[in-house]
Amino acid sequence: MNHNPVYLALDLPRLEAAEALARKVAGHIGGIKLGLEFFCAHGHHGVHELHKLGLPIFLDLKLHDIPNTVAAAMQAIHVLEPAIVTVHAAGGRAMMEDAKAAAGENCKVVAVTVLTSLDDDDLTAIGVSADPHAQALRLAELAQAAGLDGIVCSGHEVGAVHKQWKDGFFVVPGLRPDDGKGRGRNGNGTGDQKRTVTPREARDAGASVLVIGRPISRADDPLTVARAIEATL
Ligand code: C5P
Repeated sequence: MNHNPVYLALDLPRLEAAEALARKVAGHIGGIKLGLEFFCAHGHHGVHELHKLGLPIFLDLKLHDIPNTVAAAMQAIHVLEPAIVTVHAAGGRAMMEDAKAAAGENCKVVAVTVLTSLDDDDLTAIGVSADPHAQALRLAELAQAAGLDGIVCSGHEVGAVHKQWKDGFFVVPGLRPDDGKGRGRNGNGTGDQKRTVTPREARDAGASVLVIGRPISRADDPLTVARAIEATL
């Protein structure tokens, strides 16, 4: 059987609740994604606790600072043996090169390009004249040139990015499993009309890692949902 590419995003404020959820679905996911919120709240202790489940850990810290500081931060998290760490491509080539050089041999360093929360006007306000898509492509090229392993991208982009960067490592969030009613469900239950991508579609388009949070964490029965997603892959 293929290695399970699903990383469960544990965006829960309480450590005990996060651990309980991860334990429940541990046999049906490939890893655990811990974000800035979790790391600021629970630090190394929280990561050590989740390591006990024996799954790879993705530290989604989106590091962005001068090269020396980011390299030092990478060294400081080395003891946690993360499988994946994110940095902002906007930090520049030298920062990404130093982050990669400071990372452990088995740690993928992946770049965030343009946050999906930013639109054209937001980019203009920070002096970026390119539209978000063009800016994301430009930063993806820079990440590749800097020797990073890959980028974070949406399920809509991953196919095109994969064609450009054949051996890239692509982390895809924002996925919605097919709910059996034709399309994926919105994670917050509001059922918006946005076109969604299923885990299977993203994987087929070249995703290396599928980040899935609320469809599992907010489900009435997380284990059943995690199993159902696994069965589609
Ligand atoms: O929406 P869901 O709960 O599945 O999100 C899973 C994770 O993906 C969250 O940690 C969220 O921060 C991250 N995410 C992201 N970029 C997006 C959408 C979600 O990094 N565009």
